[in-house]
Amino acid sequence: MVYNLVLFAHILGAFGLIAAYTIEAIGLRGLRGATRRDEALLWLRISRGLVMRLAPASLGVILIAGLYMMATSWGPRGWTVVALVSFILLAAVGGVGTGLRMARIGPAVNGASDPLPDEVRTALRDRVLLLSLDVRLAIAVGILFLMTLKPSALVSVAVIVLAIAVGLVAGLLPAQRSRNEFRSAAG
Ligand code: HEM
Repeated sequence: MVYNLVLFAHILGAFGLIAAYTIEAIGLRGLRGATRRDEALLWLRISRGLVMRLAPASLGVILIAGLYMMATSWGPRGWTVVALVSFILLAAVGGVGTGLRMARIGPAVNGASDPLPDEVRTALRDRVLLLSLDVRLAIAVGILFLMTLKPSALVSVAVIVLAIAVGLVAGLLPAQRSRNEFRSAAG
């Protein structure tokens, strides 16, 4: 009974994480197109205000519930250990790739003139923000695969490596496309 409630909390945390990533994706889209200060501040309120609360809370619930289930029922199996390491990687990518950048962008937009100067717009359009989101989303889907199929350590590592590769390609592809578009627009 307790186990099932903890599993429920764990899955609820996973829902929360995906919701946070969805809001982050919408916020990033808005920020990338923002030219005015008030526009950027509105999108920042969505990304920072909502995502910065929902994502860490969800990660915390997922981790505590996951560790509980691991300790009481599963032990250190291939899939649980790889999931745990991947989960730490996912949180680190979010903190370094997005958290640090967003912490700098907030004050930069606040203190910026209107319309936003080029250097602030460049910071808002930082590709690393998109790359970070795509890689985290792909890792989360990879972990979900491990959770449901519970494969061996080797297969688990292969799944997560594949997920990271897919995330990197997805995050880098639009850059290629916009460069090509720029080239064709330039003649
Ligand atoms: C993005 C992160 C994660 C997601 C989306 C996720 C999702 C899920 C889902 C959907 C289940 C239910 C699977 C089932 O009942 O067949 C589950 C179960 C489980 N998860 Fe996670 N999880 C994540 C991270 C973790 C981490 C980091 C750990 C280890 C500390 C972990 C440990 C477990 C355990 C032990 C179960 C119980 C499996 C069972 O009773 O069948 N999870 N997870």
